[in-house]
Amino acid sequence: MKEQLEKIYANATVDLEKAQTISDIEEIRAKYLSRKGEFNEIKKNLKNLSDEDKRVVGSLANEITQKLESSLKAKYEEFYKKELNEKLQKERIDITLPGKYIPHGKVHPLTATTNEIVAIFQSLGFSVVPDEHSPEVETEYYNFDMLNVPKDHPARDVQDTFYTEIAKNVVLRSQTSNSQIRAMEGQNPPIRVVAPGRVYRNENINARKNNFFHQIEGLYVDKNITFGDLKGVLNEFIRLYFGASRPTRFRSSFFPFTEPSAEIDVQCIMCEGKGCRTCSGTGWLEILGAGMVDPNVLRNVGIDPDVYSGFAFGMGVERLSMLKYAIDDIRLFFNNDERFLKQF
Ligand code: PHE
Repeated sequence: MKEQLEKIYANATVDLEKAQTISDIEEIRAKYLSRKGEFNEIKKNLKNLSDEDKRVVGSLANEITQKLESSLKAKYEEFYKKELNEKLQKERIDITLPGKYIPHGKVHPLTATTNEIVAIFQSLGFSVVPDEHSPEVETEYYNFDMLNVPKDHPARDVQDTFYTEIAKNVVLRSQTSNSQIRAMEGQNPPIRVVAPGRVYRNENINARKNNFFHQIEGLYVDKNITFGDLKGVLNEFIRLYFGASRPTRFRSSFFPFTEPSAEIDVQCIMCEGKGCRTCSGTGWLEILGAGMVDPNVLRNVGIDPDVYSGFAFGMGVERLSMLKYAIDDIRLFFNNDERFLKQF
């Protein structure tokens, strides 16, 4: 038995000499040292020996398995280090190589301007109406009727408004004022909201006008709201949006849904008021229409005009963006020319 042990050990040593990899080592461990391994087979037969022999052969078996165990361990560590180094070498990353260019988009200037304007009104206590209260495809009822626009008003003409084929009375909204009605139908005063969105008009296109553009509607209805509040809020908006140093003017105007009504012009930044192509020689660009909500409109939505009053406004986002960044043609917003868009 002693000889048998020595022989197995010699074989194991030869096997170990030949081992190249960690998995070779594992095979050797299984072959000799596992429960079904060759040494264990011998240890199982120890019970047939005399007590004396049992002691001698038993301790020899232990000694040999321990020796084998430790040389396996040493080899294992050697191979482990070697294989790890090879792997690290192979997977090495050259961090000095230049990175891959990944082009990334930017926020469109109109979106940026809209966000900026909305943030100003939020800071003044206005909240944004939910999208479903400000649809772009709208019935004449919300776009005109409820806003006190007479049936024969020229704005209803197909020359000014795009009618759809969905139904006779469905239009692409010509103004975000539809959201005023939907806001007032959806809640009781006090109401203090803004509604940004796209509007469509059958216009001749030029440097200041496109057949679709963007507006931000505003509405404030409560007790004791006056024209002074309207001027105060809009002047504060202009101050915050442009900084203090922009010449502006209030002009009286007319809208069927406000009385009295006004428009605000801001001096043209392209020519500093001297007159140019963008402002069509006037030196001014209109940025918004506004006014005190007409009592008829309040009545239409069931708000008592003897108790409540309010003001509303609708501002042109493109115009405001043009006046801030000196963009001399509204069409630049819609051409998707990267040379333009990259500047923002
Ligand atoms: N809806 C008007 C327009 O498109 C602007 C406006 C809004 C005027 C609210 C008064 C009150 O020109």
